[in-house]
Amino acid sequence: IPVDPFDLVIFGATGDLAQRKILPALFRRFCAGQFCKASRIIGAARTMHDRDTYRAMVASAIREHAPHRGCEDGTLEQFLDTLDYVQLEATGETGWKALAEHLTPGRVRAFYFSVGPGLFGELAQRLHDYGLTTQETRIVVEKPFGRDLHSAQELNAMLASHFRESQIYRIDHYLGKETVQNLMVVRFANMLFEPLWNSQYVDHIQITVAESAGIAGRAEYYDRAGAMRDMVQNHLMQLLCLTAMEPPARFEPDALRDEKLKVIRALDPVLPHHIVRGQFQAVAGQEAAHPSYRDEAGNPRSTTESYIALRVHISNWRWAGTPFYLRTGKRLVARSSVISVMFKDAPHSIFGQECGRHANVLTIRLQPNEGITFQVTIKEPGPGGMRLIDVPLDMTFAEALGPEGEDPPDAYERLIMDVIRGNQTLFMRGDEVEAAWAWTDPIIADWEQRGEVPKPYESGSPGPGDAELLMKRDQRYWRGIK
Ligand code: BG6
Repeated sequence: IPVDPFDLVIFGATGDLAQRKILPALFRRFCAGQFCKASRIIGAARTMHDRDTYRAMVASAIREHAPHRGCEDGTLEQFLDTLDYVQLEATGETGWKALAEHLTPGRVRAFYFSVGPGLFGELAQRLHDYGLTTQETRIVVEKPFGRDLHSAQELNAMLASHFRESQIYRIDHYLGKETVQNLMVVRFANMLFEPLWNSQYVDHIQITVAESAGIAGRAEYYDRAGAMRDMVQNHLMQLLCLTAMEPPARFEPDALRDEKLKVIRALDPVLPHHIVRGQFQAVAGQEAAHPSYRDEAGNPRSTTESYIALRVHISNWRWAGTPFYLRTGKRLVARSSVISVMFKDAPHSIFGQECGRHANVLTIRLQPNEGITFQVTIKEPGPGGMRLIDVPLDMTFAEALGPEGEDPPDAYERLIMDVIRGNQTLFMRGDEVEAAWAWTDPIIADWEQRGEVPKPYESGSPGPGDAELLMKRDQRYWRGIK
């Protein structure tokens, strides 16, 4: 559904996120006909550019990061016509008057803060001082939203002094992923799963976000953050919430966010022996392909974790007694993000012990190869007696639904258009972010106090051996990363 013409200002318009994600996402939405040439996208940054050099920069970023048939059929040139550029100082007065001249009164106006959180306050203040905000103004802020509860509270308070909560769009791009949204549809639009979605029938749930890439190019940020702040506090927490929450009464922003918040507030503190921190090590002789974390980070004494596995409990009626195992890491054996709901065994096997143990597993694959698989037990075909095997009922979205040869839409495409439409459902509310930090802060404080050193794991492996032990102690095992 096309959106009305809008003005979108991207602060940090020459930065990595804008070039790799935001502008390519906008281009793909433009190709899909979702917005027209009357809309304006205004890049703003400190770097010296004029409109033409900026457009050339964006064109080459799009060709590199999001090649699309629109690059060849003239659509790219039409998209570039919607772009302007303003050289602007976030911490000074340069460029703000010029920016004001680019904005059209009466339109939806969105400001995308694609900059470090240290600049949020300056930007918000100047938007206010130069009278650039209207009732229709929205601001989009990226993670990291603070680095602990205190800094997140400060950021929320500062934003609240300039904008209403309904104007603030805190992005967690995992919420824009197609399969993450599908998780809610699978849960709440089918009768099949929801009656079984509780501790009576679910043995445990695994949430894995494995990455094969390292931290190259982002060492300065990552070495201060680590996997807990970079991935668990936000992306894995969101996945956990959507998997565990109660059905909201309606698919509406506050109804959904209230339910997510209840999950976070019901999380037990994590016991130290339910956490494994890891840091990747080089593989001897293959340092180029498999470097060590400390080399990548340029910090020979770093004790930052590039991997974390946790056993998490949600103390509420639905989930008491069903653990959630979360893990995420860099330079693992493959890039693979999966939620696996592991159902309990049937209470009694009428086929006898020799048929082995079989349990249903619902696997929601976020990436790559997005889709949902339900593992069921059937009789092995043939006359050889009653042998049971597990087979997947497979729904790979690309095969089942996607137009041939086309990549699934990127999370940012959906999220940016939601900003323009004024739909906050897939964005985090301030109290949610704070509750997530309130849960992570004591875990991090405990490591710092004990001077915890992460366990080594080989770059390109499934992670530290201790993570296997975490499961083994509970007579469970991780699903393979593939
Ligand atoms: C970002 C993290 O938010 O998400 C990165 O800062 C991580 O460290 C990235 O690599 C993962 O996103 P995706 O969409 O590639 O799974």
